[in-house]
Amino acid sequence: MRGSRTFTYRGGSLHCEDVPVAEIARKVGTPFYLYSQTALEDAYREFDRAFAAVPHLTCYAVKANGNLAILSLFRRLGAGFDIVSGGELRRATAAGADPQRIVFSGVGKTVEEIDLGLRHGILQFNVESAAEMHMIEGRAQALGRTANVAVRVNPDVVPGTHPYISTGTRRHKFGVSVEETLALCRRARMACRLRITGISCHIGSQITSLAPFLLTWKRLKDICLTLRSEGMDIRHLDIGGGLGIMYREEVPPHPREFAREAIAAVGDLGCRLILEPGRVIAGNAGILVARVILTKKNQGRNFVVVDAGMSDMLRPSLYGAFHGIQAVTARRGVKSIADVVGPICETGDYLALDREMPVVKTGDCLALMSAGAYGFVLASNYNSRPRAAEVMVRGSRYKLIRRRERYPDLVRGEARRPL
Ligand code: LLP
Repeated sequence: MRGSRTFTYRGGSLHCEDVPVAEIARKVGTPFYLYSQTALEDAYREFDRAFAAVPHLTCYAVKANGNLAILSLFRRLGAGFDIVSGGELRRATAAGADPQRIVFSGVGKTVEEIDLGLRHGILQFNVESAAEMHMIEGRAQALGRTANVAVRVNPDVVPGTHPYISTGTRRHKFGVSVEETLALCRRARMACRLRITGISCHIGSQITSLAPFLLTWKRLKDICLTLRSEGMDIRHLDIGGGLGIMYREEVPPHPREFAREAIAAVGDLGCRLILEPGRVIAGNAGILVARVILTKKNQGRNFVVVDAGMSDMLRPSLYGAFHGIQAVTARRGVKSIADVVGPICETGDYLALDREMPVVKTGDCLALMSAGAYGFVLASNYNSRPRAAEVMVRGSRYKLIRRRERYPDLVRGEARRPL
């Protein structure tokens, strides 16, 4: 399910599954993130089932939305996890994840994080440099363990997405070149504390066409065949995440099409495919609900000032990202063009610019759509704003899955006096 049946109007009132969003706003206060459990489950299952024809492991990318209740939902559905920090490893294990279903990506894993991964016996480290491989080997030696490693290839493919979320061209910090991948695998093979399990890659996020994936998969296959011809046992092919979703008019490939093409491209290698989807699972399963504080007109422009800002939802400010905005109680009649902005003291603090929308007034609730991925996880306490609550709906029930932060949360750990 891609969001369409999840957030619907009934009698003019926006519902998440069977619960009126306005009712949750009354109980929980605003702003809050709201997720549909059914939409999360459906999106996970749809993606995972698309790969049913081949041995595979769907490792949900924790960074997209790491709420414990959501991770434990996916764990129950059989998901593995793609993590990028010790914190994410702790979240995944707190949600009951089997370490043998965890892959650890990231360009700068610290010694502490490597040790944590080794102690847990995770499925594999996706290694991004010679220096990192050296570190992992050293730590494995010190701890008397063997580390499973896959080398992350930077295939030098332009993914056609926002520059900030492109990761697989030669200009980027991620992974190593094809040549270096071969060299690192050869080196790992000689190291007694390293077990080379395969190769990995991730070329970017919110990718809406198959072409860059196809090019990447072809490169991965060539590497795999070369390594195998040298007698290496390449069991895992981790093709990363990156599949886009619809925010506005994008027409991304359907997960089934993505899977069909991936299987056609690399399925005959007989590798276990590892997948790291994030956005495609969580993105359209959540919204951010905010309340209008006031409206104002400034020298010809209309502003709708809401109680959520860039500290709650950074995507518009950081990437110029588009998110649909809907009134929680449908308003007919006159529309106007307005900027929907937060209360934060930054010009870049906006959720939507020049948006045609119904005329709203103080106290109205607005929903920022497609906010389930890279929403709450990017939130900060800038301007000393407590982070929002998170709520999950299933059918006609809802549950607070993260309480709103309070003032004491903001100053926890701070010294009250200087030296
Ligand atoms: N695997 C790795 C190694 C990644 O770096 C990422 C995302 C994923 C998987 C999941 O990618 P997805 O399937 O979600 O596209 N904050 C940005 C997105 C950053 C993505 C970073 N890496 C945004 O809000 O658009």
